[in-house]
Amino acid sequence: MIKFKTEENQVFFIGAGPGDPDLLTLKGARALEGCHAVFAPTPYEETFAQLLRGKQVLVPFGFYFQELLDLLHKLLEKGDVAFLVPGDLTFYSPFQALIDVLGTRAEVIAGVGTANAASAFLKKTLDLPGVCNRAVIASPRTLGDQPGSPTLAELAAPGVTLLIYMNNLPLPELVAQLKKGYGKSVPIALVHRLCLPGEEVVLATLDEIVEQVGERDFFNLTGTDRRPALTLVVAGETLSATVDGSWWDFRRDTIWKFREE
Ligand SMILES: C[S@@+](CC[C@H](N)C(=O)[O-])C[C@H]1O[C@@H](n2cnc3c(N)ncnc32)[C@H](O)[C@@H]1O
Repeated sequence: MIKFKTEENQVFFIGAGPGDPDLLTLKGARALEGCHAVFAPTPYEETFAQLLRGKQVLVPFGFYFQELLDLLHKLLEKGDVAFLVPGDLTFYSPFQALIDVLGTRAEVIAGVGTANAASAFLKKTLDLPGVCNRAVIASPRTLGDQPGSPTLAELAAPGVTLLIYMNNLPLPELVAQLKKGYGKSVPIALVHRLCLPGEEVVLATLDEIVEQVGERDFFNLTGTDRRPALTLVVAGETLSATVDGSWWDFRRDTIWKFREE
């Protein structure tokens, strides 16, 4: 049994998964239960409403950093506090500065990242042997726009499964970059609002996707706010590949068997 409680009240950064509370870990659920105040980014205040009942629910992005720290210290006088971290801390999470400044008072709990949930939805492993030998995680928002900054065209290549978070490129431009990198049309999935109301997944090829999506704005490029849409892009040959049992048997012979078998 993991013991959460130390002498001091704690701030838990709970990997909350893509939005469905069913994907909260047991450890996360236990920590959340013990907190009297919870910072929940939209739409978690709605989808987690049942688990948040009776707790003070706050929106983290409504505060500047120092305001947030002052508020946290007040809340900590009363008991434990939680942040629901979309997906979890592993990729593209804005909570690192808080965790660093809180030091031993911060506890991070792993969760189901959007990449994991997308792989499950698509029923595809993202590094299928013989088809893909690596997965690359990137966002055009953070690659930088200085001369020499890497581009998606440079990251995409045969054998790469590319996971693109927070895309801010118009779809035709994104597709052009990926086609340049892959050198051909490969499968692409736009995974929108996974595990949330309004969930929609468009699976096509680079040659088909622009027409298939039409006027739909899956990346919030035209909305009134600048927030990245809850859309993950996954591209690569693994999305349409199937395998027979020969790889299983190869592993059985070369990895799983005891040496003397
Ligand atoms: C700030 S990042 C957070 C990523 C998160 N830390 C994770 O591990 O999944 C936000 C981006 O994650 C992806 N994302 C988060 N939740 C999603 C969801 N429910 N469905 C599809 N994509 C999602 C989108 O690319 C979105 O722009």
